[in-house]
Amino acid sequence: MLPETTPGDDGTTVRPARDRRPADRVALRSDLRSAVPDATAAVVVTAAVFVLLWARMESGDSATVAVMPFMDDPGTYWMYLLSQAFGWLGLLWAWGTVMLGLLLSGPGPTRLPVSPQVMERWHRTTSLTTMALMLAHALMFAAELVRYETELAWARRLWTGFADSFVPGWYDSGTGQIAIPLGQGALYLAVPLGLLFYVRHRIGAGTWRRLHRFVVVVYVLSVWHTLLYGTNVWYGEWPRTALWLLQLPVAVLLLVRLLRPARRAERLGAPGGRPAGGPAGGPARGRSLTGWTLRAAGRAAAAAVVAGLLLVVVSGHDGGRERPAGTPASSPHPKETD
Ligand code: HEM
Repeated sequence: MLPETTPGDDGTTVRPARDRRPADRVALRSDLRSAVPDATAAVVVTAAVFVLLWARMESGDSATVAVMPFMDDPGTYWMYLLSQAFGWLGLLWAWGTVMLGLLLSGPGPTRLPVSPQVMERWHRTTSLTTMALMLAHALMFAAELVRYETELAWARRLWTGFADSFVPGWYDSGTGQIAIPLGQGALYLAVPLGLLFYVRHRIGAGTWRRLHRFVVVVYVLSVWHTLLYGTNVWYGEWPRTALWLLQLPVAVLLLVRLLRPARRAERLGAPGGRPAGGPAGGPARGRSLTGWTLRAAGRAAAAAVVAGLLLVVVSGHDGGRERPAGTPASSPHPKETD
């Protein structure tokens, strides 16, 4: 018979007293098991995106081929297409998990289709899936580089594929010099920030909460990397507009979450005073003026991002290039031996 477990108030699993395994490992294992359905859904959608990208290459509509004409052969460049598909799903899942996180830490809608505990579990499982998708995206890119560098010896091929994909600053071609480290930064931050939840008993809930906030940086880096480097959003066409538009709900929720946080202690309050809604008659834990100014600046920055996104979408000035009538002269991914 399976050991009896009950859900805790933070949505995690409470173990029976006789279970002597470390709590962190049990929680991670349980979340990994729960992540199987959403990871499966992500793989199915990745396959659909892969088929779509392949079909666009075959039909001549592919923006990737417009940027890199030598890629006009999905049968050869299938690993590159798979890397792109994993990248899109990574971004979509990151979007979903960030939205769930902001819904949980903000004022929360009055009526939700599921309980906050279920939402929290979804937040944790989708963030595990996001990390796996990001890693799969980078690994497929590395695999494609290894396949592509046919003129190098095997050891150099493997090293080049690995270093160009995973060593910050190694990739030395065009926009990739900036865009690739942004993607690497997102991946390398996502993993510790996501997994710290499972050791929060050891580092302290406060430390974990403070560090977890930086997940928003992971998301910003991911979007920035895509806008800079994604060939399917290279041109000022609808996919790029859609990508910008998708950021609007995230920015609005972030602003609402900052203005009306679920935790009373995070409310802005008056400069130098107790946080608004703080316990009456409690110890006078006043806020420093610097702290208050930083918090207020964060709220102002989030409002500016919302306004900026609206401006981009309405004006159409989204950084997209003009699709050339002919073929461009250079490719963003020249061979090492070029
Ligand atoms: C080690 C880290 C990473 C590497 C080496 C990497 C590499 C690349 C490369 C080479 C491209 C250009 C593909 C193209 O021609 O379109 C790209 C695009 C993209 N990347 Fe990354 N990336 C990394 C991290 C990330 C992360 C963390 C995300 C977020 C989920 C992400 C999402 C995307 C997306 C959505 C695209 C656009 C693909 C397309 O246009 O079809 N990448 N990445």
